[in-house]
Amino acid sequence: MSFSYYLPTKIVFGFGALQSLRDEAGQLNATKALLVTDKVMVKTGVVEKVTKAMGDAAVDVFDEVEAEPRIEVAQSVGEQVRRGSYGLVVGVGGGSSMDMAKVAAGLATNPGPARAFVGNNLLSKPPLSSIMVPTTAGTGAELTVTSMVTLDGHKRWINSPLLLPKAAIVDPELTMTMPRGVTAATGLDALCHNAEAYISTLASPITDSIALEGVRLVSSNLERAFDDGTDRKARESMSLGALLGGISLQAKMVYGHSIGYTIATRFRLPHGVSCGIPLPYIISGCAATCAPKMSRLADAFGVGVEGQEAAELGGAIGKRVIELLKHLGVPTSMKELGVKEEDLPVLARECLDMYPRPNSPLAFDQRSMEGLYRTMWEGQLPA
Ligand SMILES: [Fe+2]
Repeated sequence: MSFSYYLPTKIVFGFGALQSLRDEAGQLNATKALLVTDKVMVKTGVVEKVTKAMGDAAVDVFDEVEAEPRIEVAQSVGEQVRRGSYGLVVGVGGGSSMDMAKVAAGLATNPGPARAFVGNNLLSKPPLSSIMVPTTAGTGAELTVTSMVTLDGHKRWINSPLLLPKAAIVDPELTMTMPRGVTAATGLDALCHNAEAYISTLASPITDSIALEGVRLVSSNLERAFDDGTDRKARESMSLGALLGGISLQAKMVYGHSIGYTIATRFRLPHGVSCGIPLPYIISGCAATCAPKMSRLADAFGVGVEGQEAAELGGAIGKRVIELLKHLGVPTSMKELGVKEEDLPVLARECLDMYPRPNSPLAFDQRSMEGLYRTMWEGQLPA
């Protein structure tokens, strides 16, 4: 066995954690910060709350982050951060705001247009310090080396370990007012991060332990948080499950996320919904290949009985995820979503060509990927 694991980000977790922002910023000697967020966070008063928590530091706000931000937004936040003499970038919001904050920190010290950094390890200079304050429970962007940008209508990534923030302040209080749809979508994203990381061939004993606990927390609390947003225990568990998903992500995602990308832009789906739809089929489809690991995964999902074969356990997990999707009002098949049967080969080709996963436990070619899409289209778990 061999693996490496690297996480230099300080994590401050718990109700009231936001109050530590001043100290964390102070330790970075930042007297002026750029807060990167979206207009909803301004409107709902979150930005004001975060600004207050910054204490005496001067704060400018960039609030033009959009969902699935285009490269132009990255360029724009980069220009703002380069104009001011900032010592710190603070990302406040969901994955898009945090991703743009990480990009801003990188562009502050690395000259060139934002699109020049799309790819792997293209930043050469250490970025400005950054602190992330998630307000959803799902993306894990506060702990990842990656920032997603939309380039020419497709999802692309700026990846660099240099993007890892100095601190992540995860305060479940900030998620209490999250609307039901956002709770569902981001919660599904957290479930996918933990579950896909667990079956990735890059998984390690560290990511496995974290991913299993992440699956357990999300699987047993997402419906509760969705049904009653004021359930503090459920919200806290979801924030923790999402945080663990951010760490699990080090094992990288498998084809659930890739398939999600192929349908997200066509049907304007939130990221977590697009990944949640394929999840039951991916897990049950890969169960036999991941046989030694399935019993612990089934336990984390709260399903399965002793002595069941891997394929049966995979089927039981698949059924549990479908039950969860139905509870959240999310389509459980591509047919229900509105995908046309004749488009399946095109989607399968796009999935393999644009979003390949060498770390998938099961290798796919065009024929087998088309088969998987057909299964998902029909909504039939593998027997
Ligand atoms: Fe994701």
